[in-house]
Amino acid sequence: MRNIIIAVAIIFLLPATVRAGYRQDFEKEFLTKTWAGVQMEENVCISCHASDTMKPGYREITEEWRSSWHAQNNISCEDCHGGDPKDPALAMSPQRGFVGVPTYKDVPDFCGKCHIGILASFRESGHGKALKSGGVSPSCMTQIKAGGKAPNCVTCHGSHNIQKASIDIINEQLCTKCHSYERAKIMKQALFLTEDKIGRIGKSIEALKREGIYPETDEKNLFSTQAEFRALFHTVDANIVKERTDEFTTRLDQIDNNVKATYQELKQRKNFSAFLMLTFAGMGIVISLL
Ligand code: HEC
Ligand code: HEC
Ligand code: HEC
Ligand code: HEC
Ligand code: HEC
Repeated sequence: MRNIIIAVAIIFLLPATVRAGYRQDFEKEFLTKTWAGVQMEENVCISCHASDTMKPGYREITEEWRSSWHAQNNISCEDCHGGDPKDPALAMSPQRGFVGVPTYKDVPDFCGKCHIGILASFRESGHGKALKSGGVSPSCMTQIKAGGKAPNCVTCHGSHNIQKASIDIINEQLCTKCHSYERAKIMKQALFLTEDKIGRIGKSIEALKREGIYPETDEKNLFSTQAEFRALFHTVDANIVKERTDEFTTRLDQIDNNVKATYQELKQRKNFSAFLMLTFAGMGIVISLL
């Protein structure tokens, strides 16, 4: 009988150990590869462009992209350049929608197929009009002579290493490439108060999340208000920003009040449970004394 039990045990345990061994091998051979997990689904744009055969200067593009905000949001090569990320042979054929590299002037349309509101503001702006007409202001002559033009999206954001935007992009080094910093500074000042408010509400929401509360509606409202407000910068018209600041202040105050009310509720709930704890502890002491 005992032998039978041992035999049955071996029969059951053996595959388990074998499986454990296979799993170790699997982990060693597969999961340690840099591409495991991250790129489980094969994307031939990335694997070919990151390979050693790619010409220097091009190989870094995949590295830059990997650390971008777009990569974190699953916006990949083909989302911007088109093409077929599943077919190595025809990946870059126009029949599969490949559009290649946009010209300097076409970059706003290239990015604007997703950033629609921003494209609209940009087109109406001094920057957008100058880009379209190739027109020049006297202050821009030196830049034009140096081969530059009005800015497109990439001038300010980059192309592959794009990070989350903020008013820090408005800085002397970038904005004085074509004109005086005075104009840029007026924009920054007009944006500052509202940006500051957006930042503070964002932090309150993060604090609530750390307590395990997810104010979804407030977060969504903040995100869409922020997106709408930030499109305003792209008009590069400080008067438009100033005119609409009151409206945005009202909307943001409303979100702020909601978040504060949620926080207050949380505090009250915490106080109540502390009260309950004390009551039970007190009852416990009384019972044990009895
Ligand atoms: C099998 C390898 C391979 C695959 C797969 C591949 N590429 Fe390329 N790609 C190249 C090479 C090589 C070049 C450089 C050509 C040259 O020397 O100018 C290039 C150039 C490019 C360029 C710029 C040059 C141009 O003329 O338009 C873009 C943009 C690009 N690839 C995007 C993509 C995208 C997006 C995908 C996936 C849908 C992709 N590639 C898939 C090998 C590949
Ligand atoms: C957010 C949109 C976007 C994404 C995502 C993106 N690109 Fe690009 N790419 C651009 C723009 C815009 C340009 C042209 C401006 C420039 O060169 O910076 C460009 C240029 C290029 C070029 C030509 C560079 C040169 O010097 O001529 C190559 C090659 C390229 N991209 C490959 C890729 C590959 C590979 C990926 C994915 C790893 C990728 N791109 C992802 C927007 C994008
Ligand atoms: C296929 C759609 C798509 C294209 C094309 C695209 N983007 Fe984006 N972009 C996104 C998404 C999705 C996000 C992440 C959500 C967000 O933050 O708004 C994002 C985020 C951004 C951000 C950060 C926003 C923030 O929250 O601070 C910037 C800046 C940006 N994109 C600029 C560009 C530029 C410049 C181009 C062209 C070179 C471009 N995008 C092309 C979809 C796209
Ligand atoms: C590549 C060149 C270039 C860069 C870089 C640049 N600008 Fe401009 N800017 C122009 C041109 C061209 C115009 C429109 C013609 C003019 O009024 O001089 C302009 C106009 C403006 C105007 C006036 C718009 C109007 O309607 O009167 C403001 C404000 C402005 N830019 C802000 C900025 C800020 C802020 C930055 C940096 C984030 C910046 N610019 C970077 C070229 C540039
Ligand atoms: C002159 C510089 C400049 C140019 C040109 C420019 N941007 Fe921006 N962009 C900024 C600045 C500065 C901010 C941040 C504004 C703020 O914080 O209020 C920003 C913010 C953004 C955001 C973030 C919006 C959000 O919801 O957080 C996106 C996306 C974006 N830009 C895309 C684009 C696209 C697409 C283009 C071309 C059509 C473009 N930008 C052209 C300077 C520029």
